[in-house]
Amino acid sequence: MKPLRIALTKGRLEKKTVELLEAAGYDCTQVKDKGRRLILPVGDNIEVVLAKAADVITYVENGVCDLGVVGKDTIMELGNSFYEILDLGFGKCRFAVAGKTDGCEFSRIKTVATKYPNVTRRYFEGLGMDVRVIKIEGSVELAPLLSLADVIVDIVETGSTLKENGLEIKAEVCPISARLICNIASMKLRKDEIESLSEKLVQ
Ligand code: PRP
Repeated sequence: MKPLRIALTKGRLEKKTVELLEAAGYDCTQVKDKGRRLILPVGDNIEVVLAKAADVITYVENGVCDLGVVGKDTIMELGNSFYEILDLGFGKCRFAVAGKTDGCEFSRIKTVATKYPNVTRRYFEGLGMDVRVIKIEGSVELAPLLSLADVIVDIVETGSTLKENGLEIKAEVCPISARLICNIASMKLRKDEIESLSEKLVQ
């Protein structure tokens, strides 16, 4: 039987996921010494694929990876044609609206910069506010500082990026953490293996 293939989000979530796999008894030697390799065996029955968050979702949705570890932020932004089977309890942060400490009143917000336009549109629509959403690829904090937007919607972990740039939280949107997601067909075809792995991960 071919190994169960798991797409891991590179960067922040990668280290925690590897720690979790190790604690669950899987041999992660190769992932920890990966060099520039992107597909690595973990024990005998698992293969890990290292990808960017949005691509983790693409690989799982298209069935080339059975499972994925990705933040709820990316899931909320990019849809859900897969099962979300476990809250892994790490990568905890939150979506927040943030702006300059001397910025405009919340009810007067007109422009919002973000890496998450879908989440942002849904949030402001839910509040009945008509705002213009500007997509930014990174370091979103720059947008209010450069007066491109009144506020940002972004993930906040420690809050130090906001603080060091003279910004503050104006509203909390929702909490976020890493999730284990599963391809819909894999859940049917490899149910026992997947359940056994997810049980080990929550112990
Ligand atoms: C994220 C986020 C904030 C920062 C928040 O950016 O967009 O900038 O982390 O973390 P903090 O509250 O602990 O300061 P990331 O580091 O992923 O880089 P990016 O801005 O290039 O997306």
